[in-house]
Amino acid sequence: MNKRIAIITGASGGIGKEFLKVMLQEELDEIWAIARSQEKLIALNKALGDKVIVIPKDLSKSAELLSIGELLKNQKPVIAYLVNNAGLARMGSYEDFTVEEIESTINVNCSALAILCTLCIPYMVKGSRILNISSASSFQPLPYLNLYAATKVFERAYSRSLNVELKGTGITSTAVCPSWVDTGLLIKEFNGKRIKFPGIVAPDRVAKKALKDAKRGRDMSVCTLYVKCLHILAKLYPQRMVMNTWVHKVKKYVEKVH
Ligand SMILES: NC(=O)c1ccc[n+]([C@@H]2O[C@H](COP(=O)([O-])OP(=O)(O)OC[C@H]3O[C@@H](n4cnc5c(N)ncnc54)[C@H](OP(=O)(O)O)[C@@H]3O)[C@@H](O)[C@H]2O)c1
Repeated sequence: MNKRIAIITGASGGIGKEFLKVMLQEELDEIWAIARSQEKLIALNKALGDKVIVIPKDLSKSAELLSIGELLKNQKPVIAYLVNNAGLARMGSYEDFTVEEIESTINVNCSALAILCTLCIPYMVKGSRILNISSASSFQPLPYLNLYAATKVFERAYSRSLNVELKGTGITSTAVCPSWVDTGLLIKEFNGKRIKFPGIVAPDRVAKKALKDAKRGRDMSVCTLYVKCLHILAKLYPQRMVMNTWVHKVKKYVEKVH
């Protein structure tokens, strides 16, 4: 019989590692854990057990990404869950980003997500769930977090449209939109001072709520009341005003605010 699996990208740390833990409670034969760091993935396999299958891949590289399609062709699993969680983020002015950094951010945050959906859906069945980890950054443009926020807009829009296209198949796609989450993605100190992140939550809370919402077939998962308020405010207020408020708050952390 074909094995029933979950695929989690960015599984080596942060929110992805928590998804790995919650998936262990599901009826699955294997959980394919994808990230660049083989060392961290092996440590997770040792800590969490042999259901965790170590698949080291750099998703910014087309050949490595497409090799996941080859694995699927060879093994023909039933994919119960696909969690597109791997992501890159950095704050800064547009001038601070190299061409390579722009390319790899878009490759990991956008291209890999869409390509993995396309590669995985043929192996999904009624009840299979896709979770695309977007962000509250997708609610409006964010100067100085511009590249990241723009990729998160892509992720949310792609995921929600995909959910409509999947209607009638029993497969759903959920855009997960947390605000600040306490992971290694966030720089916690600036000039020796601890940075305060309003509404920050632990990564396990995001993963648990996202899985619950995905099982209910929701096209968006918003973890806390704080994020719900951000979502409503971004709809009610003119975007220029929201952007100005954001710039006012973050300018002390960015050297080249014009
Ligand atoms: N933390 C937040 O405040 C926050 C808020 C909203 C949304 N999110 C989103 O949540 C997701 C997870 O973020 P996180 O906070 O858990 O970040 P994190 O702790 O930095 O984890 C990012 C994961 O992505 C993997 N990754 C990075 N580049 C990769 C590449 N080229 N190929 C394969 N894997 C790669 C990393 O593993 P390796 O380094 O081993 O490759 C790591 O496992 C991201 O999509 C992020 O945008 C985060």
